[in-house]
Amino acid sequence: MNLRTTATARPETPRPLEVEGVTVRFAGLTALDDVSFTVAPGSVHAVIGPNGAGKSTCFNVLSGLYRPVSGTVRYGEHLLTGLAPHRIAALGVARTFQNIVTTEGTVGDNLMLGRHALTRAGFVSSALHLPHAVREQRAHLARAREIAGIVGLERHFDQPVALLSYGDRKRVEMARALCLEPRVLLLDEPVAGMNTTERTAAVEVIRTVREQLGLSIVLVEHDMGLVMRLADEVTVLDFGRRIAHGTPDEVRQDPEVLRAYLGTGADTPGKEAA
Ligand SMILES: Nc1ncnc2c1ncn2[C@@H]1O[C@H](COP(=O)(O)OP(=O)(O)OP(=O)(O)O)[C@@H](O)[C@H]1O
Ligand SMILES: [Mg+2]
Repeated sequence: MNLRTTATARPETPRPLEVEGVTVRFAGLTALDDVSFTVAPGSVHAVIGPNGAGKSTCFNVLSGLYRPVSGTVRYGEHLLTGLAPHRIAALGVARTFQNIVTTEGTVGDNLMLGRHALTRAGFVSSALHLPHAVREQRAHLARAREIAGIVGLERHFDQPVALLSYGDRKRVEMARALCLEPRVLLLDEPVAGMNTTERTAAVEVIRTVREQLGLSIVLVEHDMGLVMRLADEVTVLDFGRRIAHGTPDEVRQDPEVLRAYLGTGADTPGKEAA
């Protein structure tokens, strides 16, 4: 189904996201070294690793911000490597950022920004309030409210984002990405900076999003408790290399993983942090 045919279209089931042999270099530093993994349709796939392991770089490749020197990323039959970020988003792969938290406008304004990419009516017809543009706008607004409901922001829809708690502002970020109707959602540290209560709530939101929207989620996260509770599969990076891959139980017992984490003093994969 074409997402652009109707404003409220329920998109198709996700396809596999396949990362194959991806290498990224920055002036002599190899940030990702021949990394491969596949995100199964509808799964939660975590990418973990100590600071500087290459997790955000990996996200930047998936979302088209960085182009690898070698390797490919495919979403179903589409080759994503080499495409601009907005083309990748239009194909159904949308992301949130590690450090960006919205502070401008109402919740509704922010979600409608996310809908903008799906709007068919041109700027002129919207400005002139032509009937088809008004209908389309209403349908987008209704869908934005629905998405706000899924992440638990419905009652805040008309409130300025600046008045919301930090945890709720992070939900706005997620909802805005969801407004692009992605089939794969990339979450870079979704609970960073949250307190324990907010973290527990965020786990529920991510579960609800996956269940209600049926999408795949790729998660970069330092909170190992959250990763262990949410992920179906985990890929572990260290110094840009993939050092382990498997279920949460498999990776938490993997000697390479323990060595990588103990070596840095970071949160260990066995530890329940949230
Ligand atoms: N734009 C860039 N230019 C140069 N080096 C970079 C750039 N982005 C990342 N790096 C380097 O690449 C390596 C991987 O960084 P990356 O940000 O992907 O790690 P990370 O796993 O996301 O770490 P963190 O847990 O701290 O967020 C690091 O050594 C980092 O300094
Ligand atoms: Mg990072």
